[in-house]
Amino acid sequence: MIVAIDGPAGSGKSTTAKLVGIKMGFLYIDTGAMYRAMALKTKLNGVNFSDKENIIRLLSDTVIEQVVDKNTGDTKTFLDGQDVSSVIRTPEISLGVTAVCEIGEVRSKLVELQREMSKKGNVILDGRDIGTVVFPDADLKFFMIADINIRAERRLKELEEKGIEASFSQVKEDIERRDHRDSSRSNSPLKPALDSIFIDTSKMSIEQQADFITELIKKKL
Ligand code: CDP
Repeated sequence: MIVAIDGPAGSGKSTTAKLVGIKMGFLYIDTGAMYRAMALKTKLNGVNFSDKENIIRLLSDTVIEQVVDKNTGDTKTFLDGQDVSSVIRTPEISLGVTAVCEIGEVRSKLVELQREMSKKGNVILDGRDIGTVVFPDADLKFFMIADINIRAERRLKELEEKGIEASFSQVKEDIERRDHRDSSRSNSPLKPALDSIFIDTSKMSIEQQADFITELIKKKL
């Protein structure tokens, strides 16, 4: 079974998908982390985030993998064999990923990888284009939304927990900028699939979100 969760930044997709993955024994694939890993690769090689030609050149020499940590259920992201799960969350990478993920060659490579990884069994994936482009025939599609201030507060808390410094206004601005650019790009824009189920998480807990999705999965299994 393929479960797709799309939606804007900070709407609760990753935390919910991870919990559903644990509850249902589904593999959780964090596609945003893959684009972030490519942005990190760009930075580590001293390439400008807008330098399309050199980013494409880096692609053939890049290995991105995701592995589920058996103890925590966390999906860890590896770049060229190194665990980069934390360093890809910095404001600098959040800023750079927007341009990197718009490159057609980057998207093709990562979408192929996402489809390949999904052959392993039951999977839940979160991102921007899962229900529209990666898996238009997914068994269940969700589109998560939430009030912008709530999303910014949640993201700030997450960053604080990871020891990454940021302010509320900086985080809110980043989310608004990315939402706008992700929605208006021509290649795989952020938009709900016609057959997706909307979940407004503004007043919901992670547990409630996960239970809602889990119940629908159980009905389909
Ligand atoms: O965690 P957050 O929602 O802030 O972002 P993310 O899921 O880590 O994704 C980071 C960025 O990657 C997004 O702002 C999108 O620009 C891009 N992305 C994408 O284009 N397609 C996806 N399937 C996932 C992420």
